[in-house]
Amino acid sequence: MQTNLRGLDLISTQDWTKEQIETLLDVAFDLKRKRALGQPHPYLRDKTLAMLFFFTSTRTRSSFEAGMAQLGGHAAFIDSTTTQISHGDTAKEIGEILGRYYDGIAIRQCDWEIGNRYIRDVAAASRAPVLNMQCDVYHPFQILADLMTIIEKKGDPRGLTINVSWAYASSYQKPISVPQSLILLMTRFGMNVRLTHPPEYKLMPEIVEQAQENARRHGGTLEFLDDFDAGFKDADVVYPKSWGALLTTSDPEESAAIGRKYTDWITDDRRMALAKPDAIYMHCLPADRNIEVTDSVIDGPQSVVYDEAENRLHVQKAAMALTMT
Ligand code: CP
Repeated sequence: MQTNLRGLDLISTQDWTKEQIETLLDVAFDLKRKRALGQPHPYLRDKTLAMLFFFTSTRTRSSFEAGMAQLGGHAAFIDSTTTQISHGDTAKEIGEILGRYYDGIAIRQCDWEIGNRYIRDVAAASRAPVLNMQCDVYHPFQILADLMTIIEKKGDPRGLTINVSWAYASSYQKPISVPQSLILLMTRFGMNVRLTHPPEYKLMPEIVEQAQENARRHGGTLEFLDDFDAGFKDADVVYPKSWGALLTTSDPEESAAIGRKYTDWITDDRRMALAKPDAIYMHCLPADRNIEVTDSVIDGPQSVVYDEAENRLHVQKAAMALTMT
């Protein structure tokens, strides 16, 4: 266990050591137990968190806001369009100034080739820790909640097979931050990671290389498939979700047209039956119901999507308590 996480930014799980991540998970389990028992845990009394959003959210906003209140502090929701950012406040102003008002700055900025750079620029200027609520490259708190859920449902993750798969969706070109963060973290925890997608849906090469290095160091594996059904075969954990063809085209219409070639990439009962009988179905949500996944799967006995969403609260509270005290 590491006890010196005060002041650390969490922008990618790659920025933290495995022992630091294990500490975060340990605290998250403790906070989950305390909440279940109704035990107060005001570790952040009188502390404040700025939550700066450039993009919509259901789970992330609510779990950070509720989490800060449960820790005895206050979270301020800031919609970027209500600030002076469009009139000249740069990342430096945001980091310098919000870092003096608040004890932590959480940011969601998912714009392709902008978001991660922006969050790192804010962090460079801020005296308070910066937490990444999702950018174009990473979604660290989603994936930490996912790992917590896998440990709860399946025990030791080492040697388990997880299928991180693309799936079709029609709603919008979703970021690639979830599959990228999944392959990075699950390989560090010794899982056999399958990355399954049509050829147009590649992830960033440097992220894939880091995931391969993580697998090599930590006894996991990383394999690549382009057959949707094959990805499910004998998996312990299936995580099929949509993402945009961002490495193939920057044109949203062209990307949508590519996606329409693969409308049969929907998770249904037949596909779930290809996985192990006790396999769990995961999705970060929101999902395109009956396009990306059938109701029978997402509402079925193998789905853990609501426990997964709940665990956002616990891992984020752990991160805030450890970095903002
Ligand atoms: N999974 C997730 O980040 O949900 P929101 O986009 O609703 O915050």
